[in-house]
Amino acid sequence: MADIHIDSIVKRYGDATIIDHLSLNIQHGEFFTLLGPSGCGKTTLLRMIAGFIIPDEGRLVLDGIDITRLPAHKRETGMVFQDYALFPDKTVFDNVAYGLRVRKQSNAVIIDKVSRMLERVELAHLAKRYPAELSGGQRQRVALARALVIEPRVLLMDEPLSNLDAKLRIQMRDVIRQLQQESNITAIFVTHDQEEALSMSDRIALLRNGRIDQLDTPDGLYGRPETAYAADFIGAANLLTIDAMHVIDELSFVSFAGAKFKVANPAPGTQCRLAARPEHIQLHESAGNDSERVAATVIHRRYLGYKAAYALRLTDGQTLNADVPAASDPHWSPDSPVFVSFSAKCRLVRA
Ligand SMILES: Nc1ncnc2c1ncn2[C@@H]1O[C@H](COP(=O)(O)OP(=O)(O)O)[C@@H](O)[C@H]1O
Ligand SMILES: [Mg+2]
Repeated sequence: MADIHIDSIVKRYGDATIIDHLSLNIQHGEFFTLLGPSGCGKTTLLRMIAGFIIPDEGRLVLDGIDITRLPAHKRETGMVFQDYALFPDKTVFDNVAYGLRVRKQSNAVIIDKVSRMLERVELAHLAKRYPAELSGGQRQRVALARALVIEPRVLLMDEPLSNLDAKLRIQMRDVIRQLQQESNITAIFVTHDQEEALSMSDRIALLRNGRIDQLDTPDGLYGRPETAYAADFIGAANLLTIDAMHVIDELSFVSFAGAKFKVANPAPGTQCRLAARPEHIQLHESAGNDSERVAATVIHRRYLGYKAAYALRLTDGQTLNADVPAASDPHWSPDSPVFVSFSAKCRLVRA
């Protein structure tokens, strides 16, 4: 068992607060992701959990025991680094065996555990090779095996896929997720890649300047973003300034540019914007009979195989992106006048 309780943790470097009173509970067996742009504090937070960085304030509790000041090697965490950090002068076997040797396990136990671990990551046939003789994906699996072989209580991974090429990166998502589930281990995964986070995680903490902007399931974060930051970071929503928000018979409406239409949620505050994902916008030839459509002009069209991505300008000067499935794309050229409607999945978010 390993649940993690992070209680109002703070880390400063000089005048800069890198992690700012951040609190978080991670449950046993969860695949938990810290997501956010470069520099938001993901690595700093992960390294505090690992014990490589000591927080200035706050507490870290693992299974009810305060580990805030416990040295890294006593925390029973396994870490996978972005650059793998394999020992170049040790074979695959000896890299994986390292943690067991440090823990003074017998040779028989080491041979048994390392061999089984190498089977699991499909590297048994490469046990005698050195890291320089491996591909990126194989090195990554050595790093995972080395972290898991000590049967840690928590597996920590810092952007472990970022050095792999695109195809392998997607395959390794499944490998990592499967190893985590078979081991029934609590995992904390760091990435700046929203798609990686959405596809792998049980829950995601979206970080912004050392704080949690939104903590949610992948579904929740994509489908119900609460802030403009979350709507923009996950799925690149258009963020539009609107004229007014209304609630009529418990349904929420917005109006702008002469149109009025239904949206998914009531205003979460006084300062709100409309978050409209490119796939939640429809384009039309005509204004139609109702007052739900907004006039726009095509800026450009980009063909992307299964869809066309349009950039548009509204009459009030705001720009937005809209996707049209390739099968129903009328191939509008630049400067074409079109009309835009917004699906009821569009949401009001805090500005
Ligand atoms: N040892 C350090 N000294 C000073 N500033 C640091 C140090 N480590 C990280 N930072 C700063 O803290 C911020 C967050 O860094 P980091 O946790 O590595 O972000 P991320 O992993 O999300 O990209 C960055 O602005 C970085 O420059
Ligand atoms: Mg980092």
